Amino acid sequence: MTNTAPPPEGRTQEGRIHEFKTLRGADTIEVGRKLVKLLKPPQLLLLRGELGTGKTTLVKGIVQALNAAEPDEVTSPTFTLLHEYDGTRGDQPVKLYHLDVYRLESERQLETLGLDELLTPNALVLVEWGDKFKSIKKRATGEILITAEGGDTRKITVTLKD
Ligand SMILES: Nc1ncnc2c1ncn2[C@@H]1O[C@H](COP(=O)(O)OP(=O)(O)O)[C@@H](O)[C@H]1O
Ligand SMILES: [Mg+2]
Repeated sequence: MTNTAPPPEGRTQEGRIHEFKTLRGADTIEVGRKLVKLLKPPQLLLLRGELGTGKTTLVKGIVQALNAAEPDEVTSPTFTLLHEYDGTRGDQPVKLYHLDVYRLESERQLETLGLDELLTPNALVLVEWGDKFKSIKKRATGEILITAEGGDTRKITVTLKD
């Protein structure tokens, strides 16, 4: 017998889904703070969305909720490729790695980052433009997609594999 029942609310074949809508940058920082509860390390998440949709802005909230830095101190790792933060989640230490691989052009260049070494048991790895690379997509435990919906409105869709 085939099972024709629809998937339960908030779940697809890809995993658990959480959706948020934001109207300004500060809201997206707030969503980032809330997300920390959902993001149990180890995780490697693709941060997807067009330039300027708020991927780095979302990371500001995540970093803040991990007690790792203030939002103003979180900048885009466009040129440095990788920013590293030491934080806590509950009473557990967390390593947050924020990457932006927009400027990388080949899997060989990517290898110099040593992605495998980053993904330790207490790591949260957030990669902007990670879907450019098969090797990153393969390791991803989920994704955060930000879509601009006109003006400053954004839809944020978080999908976490089980
Ligand atoms: N709803 C919103 N969510 C996130 N950022 C927003 C929003 N509305 C306006 N912005 C602005 O858009 C810009 C997003 O920049 P950034 O986070 O660096 O984007 P990305 O990393 O996706 O390129 C910021 O200047 C931010 O203040
Ligand atoms: Mg960015």
